Amino acid sequence: MKVQSNPRILMCRPEHFGVVYAINPWMDPSEWERDVRKLAAASHSQWMALRKTLRDLGARIELVPPVAGVPDLVFTANAAVVMDRKALLARFRHPQRRAEENHLAAAFQSLRARGIIDEIVTLPDDVTLEGAGDCVFDRARNLFWLGYGPRSDAAAANTVKDVFGLDVVPLELVDPRFYHMDTALSALPRGEIMYVPQAFSAEGRAAIAAHVPASQRIGIAEDDAVQLCANAVSIGDTLVMSACSDYLSAQLAERGYRVVTTPLTSFLRSGGSAFCLTLRLDLTSAQSASQSA
Ligand code: ARG
Repeated sequence: MKVQSNPRILMCRPEHFGVVYAINPWMDPSEWERDVRKLAAASHSQWMALRKTLRDLGARIELVPPVAGVPDLVFTANAAVVMDRKALLARFRHPQRRAEENHLAAAFQSLRARGIIDEIVTLPDDVTLEGAGDCVFDRARNLFWLGYGPRSDAAAANTVKDVFGLDVVPLELVDPRFYHMDTALSALPRGEIMYVPQAFSAEGRAAIAAHVPASQRIGIAEDDAVQLCANAVSIGDTLVMSACSDYLSAQLAERGYRVVTTPLTSFLRSGGSAFCLTLRLDLTSAQSASQSA
C-alpha cells in the first residue's frame, strides 16, 4: 500500500475577490457593494482561517498570484483537473471567467518548473470543463464524477477518460443553485458519497445509485445544502466546511469523520465554499500507485 504524503493544495489570496458580476444565483453585486468594506475584510480573514485550518491538518499550500479584474480566481478548484502529476487546464463557460485562463496557464507552468507537476494538457477547442469544480475524484472507486450542464460539457467526460485513463461517470446538474458539481457532491475517503439528491437529474441519481450502495449514500438536507456542506475539503478523516448542522455532523461522526467548521460566508455570496477555494495537486490514482509499488 502506498503511503500518502502530506496533501499539497493550490489556493489564491482573495486580494481582488468580490462579487462584481452575476453568473450564478448566489451572486448579487448590489448586495456586495452595499457592504463592500466589511465583506472584503471578512473574505480576507475567512480565507486566512481556512488556510490555517488546512495547514494545521498537515497540508502544504501553493499559491496562484492574485490578479486584479478576475475576482473568481480565488476559486482554484476550477483551475484544472489534476491527477498523477498531470494538469488538464480548465476552459470556462462565461467570458468573466475565461479571463482567468491565461493567468492559470502561467501559474501551472510555474508549478511545472518547480517540479510540482509534470505535464500540462489543454482541452479540445470546443470543450468546456471548469476543473475539479465539476470533476471530483473518488479515491475509493478510482473514478471521476463529472457534473455537466450549467458550466461543463458532457463531452468533457471523454477527454478526462483519455487524458487520465480513468473511468468517468457523467452526472447532469439540474438545480441552478448547485451549478458546479462540487457544490452538490463530495466523495468521502471511506467511500461514502455525500450529496444533494435534488441537484441531479433522475438519470444522475440513478447513476449514483448504480455505483454507490444505499449504505454509503449520505443525502444532504436542504438546510445543509444551502450552506454548501457538500463543498467540503477532506484531509484524512477530517472534513473542513463553512458550517454544518448537528444532525449532519453526528451522522458523519458515526461513520468516523470529524467535521471542522470555519466560516466562509463572504465566499458563499459568490456561490463558493471550502472545496472551491482549494485544488489538490497531489492526487494519485490506483494505476499510478500500483505502477510505483
Ligand atoms: N463565482 C464563482 C462562479 O460562479 C464561484 C465558483 C465556485 N467554485 C466552485 N468550484 N464551485 O464561477
